[in-house]
Amino acid sequence: MTAGPSPETFVDTILALFARRGGDHYGEAVTQLDHALQTAHHARSEGQADALVAAALLHDIGHLLQKHGEDAADRGVDALHERIGAAWLAQGFGTEVTEPVRLHVDAKRYLALREPGYLEALSPASRQSLGLQGGPMDAAEAEAFERLPAFDAAIRLRRYDERGKAEGVSVAPFSDYRPMLIELARRG
Ligand SMILES: [Fe+2]
Repeated sequence: MTAGPSPETFVDTILALFARRGGDHYGEAVTQLDHALQTAHHARSEGQADALVAAALLHDIGHLLQKHGEDAADRGVDALHERIGAAWLAQGFGTEVTEPVRLHVDAKRYLALREPGYLEALSPASRQSLGLQGGPMDAAEAEAFERLPAFDAAIRLRRYDERGKAEGVSVAPFSDYRPMLIELARRG
């Protein structure tokens, strides 16, 4: 990062965004905030690197940034939240955070091709959006996807994403992640 907001300002902008929009639903039973915190919790409790924990926490930030309503998928709109989110996060974070975010939808498309039973186990909202996102990858797409440097991180993030939709679980608050996010933003 060269110009742009300071790490603290940038991270506090993220906290403010979740404070303002984190109560939104997006077709899942849990709110955006619950989903972000649960996804990060799973990454952290499995000992993942800070960058992947941050990616898990922030992977759906594109939903909070965009103006499409929360029922976009019901209206047949693919809002490209993963690209919006990754591009916005690139103001402050490096590719070890932004790439898994950008690729977490492609990871779903990949797993839908490669992993038997994956498609059936997706939440209804996630299965509905998959259709709008291009459906399962074909074999050539999957091979190209496997060659990306962030392939492994994107798949891991996707697994935490699927698990981060449980109702009524208690996990660490967003503020717990603030020092880690600032440290990552300092690295840029
Ligand atoms: Fe998600």
